[in-house]
Order: sequence, then C-alpha cells, then structure tokens
Amino acid sequence: MKSQEIRSKFLNFFEGKQHLIVPSAPMVLKDDPTLMFVNSGMAPFKEYFLGNAEPKKNRISDSQKCLRVSGKHNDLEEVGYDTYHHTLFEMLGNWSFGDYFKKEAIAWAWELLTEVYGIDKDILYVTVFEGSDDADKLKMDTEAYDIWKQYISEDRILKGNKKDNFWEMGDQGPCGPCSEIHVDIRSKEERAKVDGKTLINMDHPHVVEVWNLVFMEYNRRANGSLEALPNKHIDTGMGFERLCMVLQGVQSNYDTDVFTPIIREIETITDKKYGNNEEVDVAIRVISDHVRAVAFSIADGQLPSNTGAGYVIRRILRRAVRYGFTFLDKKEPLIYRLVDVLSKKMGDAFPELKAQKQLIENVIKEEEASFLRTLDQGLVLLNRIVEETKGDTVSGEKAFELYDTYGFPIDLTALILSEKNLKLDEKGFKEELEKQKKRSRSASETSTEDWTILIEDDVEEFIGYDTLEANVRITRYRKVTSKKDGEMYQLVFNLTPFYAEGGGQIGDKGFLEDISGDVVYILDTKKENNVIIHFTKELPEHINESFKAVVNNEHRALSSSNHTATHLLHQALRTILGEHVEQKGSLVKPKSLRFDFSHFSKVTPEQLQEIEDFVNARIEGKLPLEEERNIPMEKAIEEGAMALFGEKYGDTVRTIRFGNSIELCGGIHVKNTSDIWHFKIVSEGAVAAGIRRIEGITNKAVKDYFSENNAAYLEMKGLLNNAKEPVKALENLQDENNDLKKQIEGLLKDKAKNIIGELKNELTEINGVHFLAKKLDLDASGIKDVCFDLGSQFDNLVLLFGAENDGKAILSCYISKELVASKGLNAGAIVRELGKHIQGGGGGQPFFATAGGKNPAGIEAALEAAKGYL
Ligand code: ALA
Repeated sequence: MKSQEIRSKFLNFFEGKQHLIVPSAPMVLKDDPTLMFVNSGMAPFKEYFLGNAEPKKNRISDSQKCLRVSGKHNDLEEVGYDTYHHTLFEMLGNWSFGDYFKKEAIAWAWELLTEVYGIDKDILYVTVFEGSDDADKLKMDTEAYDIWKQYISEDRILKGNKKDNFWEMGDQGPCGPCSEIHVDIRSKEERAKVDGKTLINMDHPHVVEVWNLVFMEYNRRANGSLEALPNKHIDTGMGFERLCMVLQGVQSNYDTDVFTPIIREIETITDKKYGNNEEVDVAIRVISDHVRAVAFSIADGQLPSNTGAGYVIRRILRRAVRYGFTFLDKKEPLIYRLVDVLSKKMGDAFPELKAQKQLIENVIKEEEASFLRTLDQGLVLLNRIVEETKGDTVSGEKAFELYDTYGFPIDLTALILSEKNLKLDEKGFKEELEKQKKRSRSASETSTEDWTILIEDDVEEFIGYDTLEANVRITRYRKVTSKKDGEMYQLVFNLTPFYAEGGGQIGDKGFLEDISGDVVYILDTKKENNVIIHFTKELPEHINESFKAVVNNEHRALSSSNHTATHLLHQALRTILGEHVEQKGSLVKPKSLRFDFSHFSKVTPEQLQEIEDFVNARIEGKLPLEEERNIPMEKAIEEGAMALFGEKYGDTVRTIRFGNSIELCGGIHVKNTSDIWHFKIVSEGAVAAGIRRIEGITNKAVKDYFSENNAAYLEMKGLLNNAKEPVKALENLQDENNDLKKQIEGLLKDKAKNIIGELKNELTEINGVHFLAKKLDLDASGIKDVCFDLGSQFDNLVLLFGAENDGKAILSCYISKELVASKGLNAGAIVRELGKHIQGGGGGQPFFATAGGKNPAGIEAALEAAKGYL
C-alpha cells in the first residue's frame, strides 16, 4: 500500500465516523510562549481542551506535521542512528472534544488497524496506565483495561508506568492516561524465540509503538498539581511513517516510499550507496530526515536565523550539512537539491511545499553554502590550534571557542583531532558548554504563576475595532517573573479595547483607571492560546472593581497608519514587481514598518520610486476603509484576498479593503488612507536568499524625516556659502579637492626625487656595505619609494629611515636581498627591535619592513642604535 493511500484510508475511516477532516495546521506556532513548534497532533487544538475556544465540530481528524526538536519532546540527536525516530513526522489523529471517550476510541483504533489495514492481531500489543504512587496519586486505568479485554487477549495487555502511559504535552496544560498500541514486525522465527511482550518500550527497532490513545481528563497547573478538566476528551496520535513501515512490510521507516525517493536522490548526488556502511547510512538518514523538517518550516514561513524557532531550524540544517560534509565527502551544497523530489512526493498532501519550492531551494542552498564556508574557515583555525598545541591534548576551552564563536561542530573537531593522533579535552569542553548554558538559562528564565481566577468567564471579547475605551472587569491575573522584564502581571478582562500583538502589528498600550482615579499602565498586549493578556508592572489595588480601560490613541493611530501602508505596499509590490511577490513577514510599529517578501533580485532605485509613488497615489486618493467582519473564508478568497502560508485562519475571517487592495487581516487600520499623510521607503535589502525587506515610514515619522533632512540640507548649504545651486557647488568642491590631491602627490614625488639625489651623497660605506640612517620629512609611501629607488641604484645597501607623521613615529628599514642572504640580516627583526625606541612595533619582510610607534622623540635614538647593527 502506497503512503498516499495509507494516509487517505485513515482520513476516510474517521470521516465515516462523523469526523470533520481538517488540513494540517502550520507547524510553527506564533502565539504560544510555552511551545515553539507543533510537537503533536493535539497542539493546534490546545485551546479547545483548555476551553478557550470552541471547535467547529466535536469530532475532528487530520494528518498533522509535527516537529520534535525542542522542549519536552526532543528527538533530534537520535535521528539517523535508529530507523524510527524523526525530526519532522506526520501524526495521524482523531479527536473528540467532550464527545466520545475510551470505548469508541479503542474500538475504532482496533477496527482500523485490524480490519481496514489488515494488520495481523497476533503482532499487536497494547498498554494501559498502571497508576502512580507519586504526588499525583493516580489510579490504574482499569476502564481502558476492561475495554481492551474485549478485543485482545489479556496476556497482550501490558501495564505501563507514568513515563510511557501518562501523556503530557509540556510542563503545563492538558494531559491524561494513555493506551499505546505496539507492533512486532520481527520474523516468525524471531518472535518464537523471544516473546514480543518483553520488548515493548525497550527501543527495539522492530517492536515499536505506532499509535497512542490519550484519554484527556486533567490540566497540569504551573504549581505542578493536576486539576480535572471540565470535559473529557480523546486525543490520539499515530506515527504515519511507522505505520507505512508496518504496512509496506519493511524493517525501517527509511525503507518506506516516504523516504526511498529522497535516499535514491542522495545516492545519485553523492555517489554513495545506502546500506553498505553504517557511517554513510547514518548520514543519509540524517539528511533525508532533516531536509523534510527544514523544507516544511520554510514553507510555513520560518526561515533559518539566529534566534528562537529560526535558530532551531538553522541547527537542524547544519546538522545535515555536517553529516554530508564528514561522511559523504560532499563539500558543496547538496540538501537543496532534494527539495524537488520531496515536493513531488508530498506536494499533493501539503501544497505549501509545491507552491514555494523555488524559495525553499534558494534559502537552503544559501544556508548550506554559508555553513560550508564556516566549516572551511573552522578547519584552518583548527589546524592553527593543532600547531600551537604542546603535548597531545587540545584544551576544552580552545575547542569551545571554535564551536561557540565560529559554529564549528565539536564532533568534527574530535574526529579531526583523532585523525591527527591528538586528544580533545572533552571534560573541559563540557564544562565550558555548561557554563554557557547556565549563562543563557539565567538570562531567559521565567517563572509563571498559576492564574488567580476572579470571575469565571469563558470568552474575553475584543471590542477594540470600534472603541478605544471601555469599562472592564479583571477576570483573572497571574505574576510572571523573568530576568529580562523583572516582575510583571498579566491581566485578562471580560472584554477589552486593547489590540493584542498579531499579524505583524505590535500590541496596544494604555492604562486602567479605577473609580478613585488611580491609574495602572498597560505596557503591552499579547495573545496566548486565543486569550488576550494585558501586561502591567503592578496589580491594581481594587482588583475586584470595574475599571475604565483606555488605549493610548497616538500609539494606536501611528501603528494603524503603518499597517494600512503595509497593505498598500504589498499591492504595489505585486503590481510593479509581479505576482510572484508573496508576503513573508511584517512588523508594524508606531515609528516604522517592515515588510519581507519573496523576490529574486534587488529592487532597483527606479522601482522603489515607482512603489513609493504607487502607495502615495493611494494615500492622496483618500480611499476609505471598507471592513467586513466574520465573512466565510471562501467568500474572502473569491473577492481576491490572499491566504498566507504558515498562517492559521478560522472559517470566518475579516477582510480589509482600500480601493483594490484587499487582505485577510485582524489588525487595526486607518479610517481613510489620507490619515497616513505620506509614505517613504527608507531602506531595501536582502533578508535571505530570495527574500527582500523594505523598511518604510509614514505620518509623523515622515514629517520628522523631512524636517531633519531639511535642517541638514540648510546647514550644508550654509557651509557652501548659501550657493544658489548647492549640489553643483559641492561637485565643484569635490573636483577641486581631487585636483589638489593629485598636485600634492606630484609635488611629493618630485620632492622624493630631489631627496634621493641628496641622500646618495650621504651614503657611507662600512665593511663594504652602503649605509644610511636618517630622519626624513616624507610619509610612509614616500619613504618606501626612496628605499626602492636607492635599492635599484646600489648593491649591498642598508637603509633606516625615520619620520614623524601626524604626531606618530615611523621607522622603515631596507636591506638589499644579497645581504639578507649572505649576512642573514632581517629588516623585520631590525624594525621590531628598534621599534621599542618609538614605543611601537611592526614587521614585514626580510628586505623591507616598517614599524609605527607613538613616540616620535625616540626616532633619533633608533637611528643611532641602527648603526650598531653593522
Ligand atoms: N498527543 C499524543 C501523542 O503525541 C497522541 O502521543
């Protein structure tokens, strides 16, 4: 059975059980501080489990792309070394939100595996939670046990501990006991020899868990305690790649048709064979896994970068490059060449891959090339370290510096050192690494208290599109302490006029005022799992009373101005540069806007002017805001709005239209484009391969920009004696300056020539050597000319010249090549020695060297000392 068929059979099965089939949510999370990437099928539905939002239907099923490379679920370092762990994998899942529970979940899982997919019952095992004696004091899941008994003999039902049979998404959040289904795909003979039961959860490559059925009934609070959820839910997750392994009768995920096309392509590119050599195999598995993680992330809008999620992606890609570099002898970019096969294989199920293939290729290729350069530089530095190493061990500190400052991987350092019969002080390296981890941990550590609930209120309504002020009640609050911001309070209201950061636009600021007029400032507003959170430095005193909540109007108005300009800019780019332009990110603040978009070359100054004019024409056109709220997504798309890859949209959306610009947007906009006043582009550049960034300003910032520029202009004009045509006056000045420079150069050359005539007469002969030590009134380049000129006229010549330039001393020494050879003289050594007199140092070649120093008074002494050398 092909993988595509396996996937659709799953979805069809649950559709038949009245589940709504939804597409995979984007993998990169944007408004969840506790999670960077979707790490399981349930993560996109977290808000439903927590009761912060209502699902479209209480039965849902999908195939969700997941990434387990950070936080509680992190498989990165295992990937490649076994045949069944991945960074990116697909999780097939079915969910019940307060609808069916254990009985149906177990019955359907069994039906699908044994009847639809036809898996032999004799190779299946299941586990149930045995209970726990720890602080949670949980009972054994006898309910699940009794249900399983109806399908499978009791000797195949195993009891499992909390680690394996109590599923938690992270340190906080919904959780519950689970039942895992394991498959034993060993041969009949092997199965007869060793009972499969003894191999469950023992990391056996052929006795693996395929499906986990979680019975969600608790919420893990920040203080570590469990509370019962208002409703019971089902969350299941089946590893798609493992299921393919079972159904395709192979012994490794990498032998399924999910991976084989990629592996064949790697073989072709590198001229290596998979399956002959363990090191090569690991490298091929690493690359074929990692290309998927990186390509899907870029398709979701997450580019490799130096921070946060971008940094995780960069590390995954670099891990792949390193394995290719070390074990496949591939010194040039290779991974980007696999994107084509990948998008052919998965592009139907995940259209974002197909649509953005070229961008993904470009970004990966550039990242690879730049990391390969780092590896090259690292090799040079490592060689230097090796040369400088006395004894047989390279210090942990040096290896760490190479790792930390230059990004050179430690395992590569260890490998190269072992080839050179050197040892690496691994303990020292680990100590350095630990020190650094401690530093960054304490910088980023935050502690979050549990919410204190004041009013039970499910939905916090946002009313900020229509008003900047409202009477509100605080429904809950909590304290968050971090090194960066110190102690902050997070408040949730029953309703709020404050816009929470989202869609690129930063959150509102403002204040809360109580009846007695006491004010607490709201410093920022953000969204977390659909809840709008207001940040304050202090807790309002009369927390249970009602407050007047007021949004800072200027902050809001300037952000709105930039946000609307961003839409017009997007329209301008697509009109002027072409329809290939797609938004790849934006940041809208009161002072400026930033817009990233896909485009493959620099935007020319003429195009930038055209873009600016396009936007300004629409500002001057006084276009009114036309806003539609809660319209069906399909209708918005029909009207011409564009959905962005990596964004999560609901069934109903909000559209923002100004003239012909129409966008899906939840942000705040001006009422009329004339409110923007004017738009000015201040910079254009590259962010990554194929992604450009334009930064711009509007409104007050443009006024400030023009008045500052004008002031500078007037000042310049004043300096040019108020010339009528200042640009021309400046050009004349530049021409004049160039002419003068040339004249001076000529004069200095003449002077040097005259000096040469005089110096010839001053040469003395000591022991057959022509010698002169003298202070000259020339610059370094003039002295060099003099030296080489005299050198061409005299053999056996030793010259030492000193000079004072701009308050600094220079010494130059020239020695004829034949003297260097016959007498072993060295100009470099001489200037270094004599440099002490002028409090400086220098060097150069044996026949010519220069030293610079800060003590011109020492020149005479240096010249005097020079005679000693002869
Ligand atoms: N959420 C469960 C898991 O990831 C199904 O294993």
